[in-house]
Amino acid sequence: MRVLGIETSCDETGVAIYDTALDGGNGLLADALYSQIAMHAEYGGVVPELASRDHTRKLLPLVEQVLADAGMTRGELDGIAYTAGPGLVGALMVGAATAHGMARALAIPALGVHHMEGHLLAPMLEHEPPEFPFVALLVSGGHTQLVEVVGLGRYRLLGESVDDAAGEAFDKAAKMLGLPYPGGPEVARLAEQGDPKRLRFPRPMTDRPGLDFSFSGLKTHTLTAIRKLDDAGELTAQGRADIARAFEDAVVDTLTIKCRRALDATGLKRLVVAGGVSANARLRERLGHECDKRRARAYYPRGRFCTDNGAMIAYVGAQRLQAGERDTLGQMQATPRWPLDHLNAPDAPSNAATPAG
Ligand code: KG4
Ligand code: ZN
Repeated sequence: MRVLGIETSCDETGVAIYDTALDGGNGLLADALYSQIAMHAEYGGVVPELASRDHTRKLLPLVEQVLADAGMTRGELDGIAYTAGPGLVGALMVGAATAHGMARALAIPALGVHHMEGHLLAPMLEHEPPEFPFVALLVSGGHTQLVEVVGLGRYRLLGESVDDAAGEAFDKAAKMLGLPYPGGPEVARLAEQGDPKRLRFPRPMTDRPGLDFSFSGLKTHTLTAIRKLDDAGELTAQGRADIARAFEDAVVDTLTIKCRRALDATGLKRLVVAGGVSANARLRERLGHECDKRRARAYYPRGRFCTDNGAMIAYVGAQRLQAGERDTLGQMQATPRWPLDHLNAPDAPSNAATPAG
């Protein structure tokens, strides 16, 4: 089954084609991405209305591009998957309406899929994909979650952030340090020059049992550290790098401690790390070390599939469409808030998002 995947939940327009006949690392026939980051950077964050308009401009040309790259015509598609949530409602509507319009015209099924399920299963696009079951750490701009993944659609939430997501914390710390949006890669780059011994930030919620996270206190801590150095006349390039390093170490350490606990609690030996923050080199290094110690293995999507992309949506949509799931004709879904553990396995009764379109 050849499925077109469409991602428009936030600030990237992603499109891809996945073929289930080539599952196991070869199914991705083509993928293309247009990032709106440069446009939003001017405002220091994503402007929802500008995002929707830009998706409208870029989506159909990207669809043509992936079809050409895959050497296919529209008529050869067997289904269309789109991100139905969570995300910005206007941005989601662009993908949902386009998917339903095309599906209707081509007389093929359409299916709305969960953005975080896309991130969660993005490592399935690699040549040595993880087998079920595994523990997944989902770390993006909007989510920080630990999930026990038993199979497609069978997710048990082990823990999550009670306030800011890890990516959001990176973005806010970046803003305080005067770095551009999105802040994660910028903070990581600046931290390279930082002295890891100069400052120590707290590791929130690691002193008590449990798998939940909290990152909003780190924001205050970062601001206080910046003010202190400034008052002492030490907010130099080196001072800023030292803060970036202390911040990154605190987030990475906290995520590592919780992953270790999740592996121990479940007894599983496979850890999937996905979402934008999974691109962080120091996080990968620490988790790799932790997995080696307990003879576990960490799996990541390739670099460009860590952040938002169409390939992960094409993959998840293809698996579910192949299992017979589809949207009711003409009922597109756009669900800005949609908990991951409300999803079902394709063979279980549907508990999907309420259609809002
Ligand atoms: O998954 P994603 O592309 O979008 C959402 O679904 O949110 O994640 C974007 C987030 C941003 O907060 C960005 O700052 C963060 O991922 N990020 C990073 C790195 N690359 C992206 N955070 C830390 N280190 C990185 N190298
Ligand atoms: Zn995402």
